[in-house]
Amino acid sequence: MNLEQVDILYDREQVMARVKELAQEITKDYADKNLLVVGILKGAFIFMADLVREIDLPLEIDFMDVSSYGVSTVSSGEVRIIKDLDYSIRDKDVLIVEDIVDTGLTLQYIKEILAKRGPRSIGICCLLDKPSRRKAAINPEYVGFAIPDEFIVGYGLDYAEQYRHYPAVCILKPSIYEK
Ligand code: IMP
Ligand code: MG
Repeated sequence: MNLEQVDILYDREQVMARVKELAQEITKDYADKNLLVVGILKGAFIFMADLVREIDLPLEIDFMDVSSYGVSTVSSGEVRIIKDLDYSIRDKDVLIVEDIVDTGLTLQYIKEILAKRGPRSIGICCLLDKPSRRKAAINPEYVGFAIPDEFIVGYGLDYAEQYRHYPAVCILKPSIYEK
């Protein structure tokens, strides 16, 4: 990690401790359900990998990729499916796993699309939540950390596709993107 570019917000141990708590809640809530965990690429890939390994239930996984921000740090409000799910979600209890909910526009769109496909339920689990920036009525059932309005990278999150591999949840120093 280049500490001239980022400040650590939650280190790997803090993140893993919280991920385990979320997985325990999910394990309790989804017992006797038909759990399908849907990861939103690419940001959720590391969180998803850690989370599902701590869920002690039978489950299936699938992924969806949507475009939201491009290389800017501000939401365009425009969302497009780049990769759809591989399988039907009919009668499944879908749990969407997302890296961060900011305006909520991305998840609102994804939820609308998936709701039309006949799932039994749709829940949302996000690692990070910036509630102060919400524009859509999205309230995730599971939130790792509610955070202030900073631009976050690491643990799957990127800025212009960089930093996803940093193990900690980091704040990107504004000097990097305010050029
Ligand atoms: P929303 O539609 O505004 O809720 O944006 C959600 C998406 O924007 C997330 O899935 C991220 O890909 C991206 N995003 C929002 N905030 C951040 C951030 O602080 N760091 C990196 N990506 C972010
Ligand atoms: Mg994303």
